[in-house]
Amino acid sequence: MSVDLSTNYLGWRLKNPLVVGSCPLTGEVDSLRRLEEAGVAAVVLPSLFEEQIEHEAEEISKVCDFGAESFPEALTYFPEQPDYHVNPEDYLTVVADAKRAVRIPVIASLNGTSRGGWVRYAKMIQDVGADGLELNIFYVAAELDQTGRDIETRYMDLVASVKQSITIPLAVKITPYFTALANMAARLVDAGADGLVLFNRVYQPDVDLATLRPMPQLEWSSPAEQLLALRWIAILRGRVQASLAATGGIHDAAGLTKALLVGADVGMIASAIYEKGVHQTGAILSGLQDWMAENGYDSVEQLKGSLSLENCDDTDAFQRGNYMKTPAAYSGKAI
Ligand SMILES: Cc1cc2nc3c(=O)[nH]c(=O)nc-3n(C[C@H](O)[C@H](O)[C@H](O)COP(=O)(O)O)c2cc1C
Repeated sequence: MSVDLSTNYLGWRLKNPLVVGSCPLTGEVDSLRRLEEAGVAAVVLPSLFEEQIEHEAEEISKVCDFGAESFPEALTYFPEQPDYHVNPEDYLTVVADAKRAVRIPVIASLNGTSRGGWVRYAKMIQDVGADGLELNIFYVAAELDQTGRDIETRYMDLVASVKQSITIPLAVKITPYFTALANMAARLVDAGADGLVLFNRVYQPDVDLATLRPMPQLEWSSPAEQLLALRWIAILRGRVQASLAATGGIHDAAGLTKALLVGADVGMIASAIYEKGVHQTGAILSGLQDWMAENGYDSVEQLKGSLSLENCDDTDAFQRGNYMKTPAAYSGKAI
């Protein structure tokens, strides 16, 4: 039985639901071509960080209450990698080169927390040909006098100002660290997000016992990390008018299939390619196809969301039900 793997994401008809997430691999023309040949349907380029747009720093501190001092967390977001941190002009070249290299949609990525002059790069990124823009917002709310409402308002202002400056689709990549995530998601969509990418994988700094300094730490994800996004995609599917992308912990066909079942339009991968190589993309796609054929699904559109909160018989499973049942499985076991 042949199955239709195509899916809608950000208004595009993609040939399948496998997208390579933002990472240095997509910033290289050769790797991009190999990823396209391997069958991925779209790519997200590595991020241009707000902090990289140094000549804008003055303007940022003028308009942003958080101030330029508020970004140290983002500076330790990734371990240093040669050639990863490019300047803004070089980034525009990366986007233009990527567009020339492949035919699949190319989504550029901006990474920041404040509404400032740097946001004008969204328009420049569009002008050099990006098909879409992903805005990665990660802010560590470390100030004692900042409330959740203040921070949420900043997120909305940032999304709205980026959205105003572009006409290409805008996806917003967020962390799960919000008290009222469903409300936050709905408001981000109201502010202009055409898609939500769940979730940004935040690298926590480790402590180096030899140097007695905090140190950046990057480890590949594991499939267990996928569960949080599965829950929230299930909860949001059909209830926010936006595309949904799952990112974090998709390593194989099972991971992608689960993401689609709960309601993701696409699954994004990064660690799996670093760990297993580019051929893992083909293994994921053929595994998805086989699973669908064996389980009687004709198309990804039919599969998407069939286990979402709205469609699941056990609606409590994505809410407190699971919380109660899981520890119960261990009751009576002695050590
Ligand atoms: C080496 C590396 C670099 C990354 N760089 C970025 C980045 O620049 N911007 C971003 O939004 N996410 C970045 N990510 C996060 C990935 O896009 C993805 O969300 C995360 O790795 C979870 O997916 P995975 O479990 O498939 O790795 C990076 C991930 C890796 C492994």
